[in-house]
Amino acid sequence: MYALKVENLKAYYITSLYGIERKVRAVDNVSFQVMENEILGIAGESGCGKSTLLKTLIGLIKPPLSVIGGGIYYKYNGREIDILKDINVLKELKWRVFSYVPQGSMSVLNPTRKIINTFEDVIKVHLNITNSDVIRNMVGDHFKSLGLPLEVLNSFPHQLSGGMRQRVTIALSTILKPKVIIADEATTALDVVVQRGVIQLLKRIQSEFKNTLIMVTHDMGVHANMADRIIIMYAGKLVEIGSVKDIFKNPLHPYTKYLIESLPKIGDKTLKKSVPGAPPSLLDPPSGCRFHPRCPYAMKECKEIVPDLVEVESGHKVACFLHRKEVDKT
Ligand SMILES: Nc1ncnc2c1ncn2[C@@H]1O[C@H](COP(=O)(O)OP(=O)(O)OP(=O)(O)O)[C@@H](O)[C@H]1O
Ligand code: SF4
Ligand SMILES: [Mg+2]
Repeated sequence: MYALKVENLKAYYITSLYGIERKVRAVDNVSFQVMENEILGIAGESGCGKSTLLKTLIGLIKPPLSVIGGGIYYKYNGREIDILKDINVLKELKWRVFSYVPQGSMSVLNPTRKIINTFEDVIKVHLNITNSDVIRNMVGDHFKSLGLPLEVLNSFPHQLSGGMRQRVTIALSTILKPKVIIADEATTALDVVVQRGVIQLLKRIQSEFKNTLIMVTHDMGVHANMADRIIIMYAGKLVEIGSVKDIFKNPLHPYTKYLIESLPKIGDKTLKKSVPGAPPSLLDPPSGCRFHPRCPYAMKECKEIVPDLVEVESGHKVACFLHRKEVDKT
């Protein structure tokens, strides 16, 4: 059963400069489902719309960001809730049904308050518990179950290392045992050893609480390590989705192939191919397939027609004319 369903989502940044409207098409007609107890990775170059997609999934839709169309459905108490239509329910869902680990996690920890106080604030507001001892026990149990040191609770955020702050942020976002955890670049900017600790923590949470994890990172190595399925985004579009095995063993979209080929392999000293050219502006994205200016296989129709996302093998979908089903000419 799915935990979250996204249908034809369009989210644009709309601004006006000297009376001229500018639209950045950051998420353009994106559809996918995430299952219960699944780790879904989302990958793609900087600026392709990953963070914008995550922000819309948690209803963080403030101008200039605007949702132009589509639906975002969570399962809640046996019901299917479209958070775009039922905006009042958002507060109820936040922390319990979904929680968010934002890119640059310092922003959720108050620099002037000890870590325990930030936890207290969240628990007081969302569980209506006011007894400090009860709250401290609850937080202590949570920290123990995640293998985090209790002394951290009496520290201020600036007294902690970057890796520990990230782990505390993840602990905070899971304190009310949400069904879906949405993490944006949770391991980026950490050194490899610390990164491993954060990955282990996320895996531990997922296996202990049996929840769903949506994890954005441009690091394909992290996806290989963690995800069950991967979404590849390119210039605001979902261009491929499949199991980790599908994506790494049989990438179909030329862009995905570049991403996989550019990964360093142990012992291989040859220069890796990176994606040629630069990502397009989402203010005026290329016509047809948005990858066509950079694609070595581009054909005439690629410049004119937007390729649909089609299932090529079970659960493996791609938006590329190289993999279209043969048209029945009889
Ligand atoms: N407040 C804003 N106003 C206008 N455009 C924006 C705004 N925020 C982001 N964008 C644009 O939207 C597009 C998608 O940005 P987004 O932050 O979602 O990308 P991303 O994939 O998360 O990138 P990164 O890997 O660098 O975090 C980019 O072209 C970006 O410049
Ligand atoms: S649709 Fe055309 S341009 Fe786009 S990735 Fe496929 S072959 Fe390349
Ligand atoms: Mg981002």
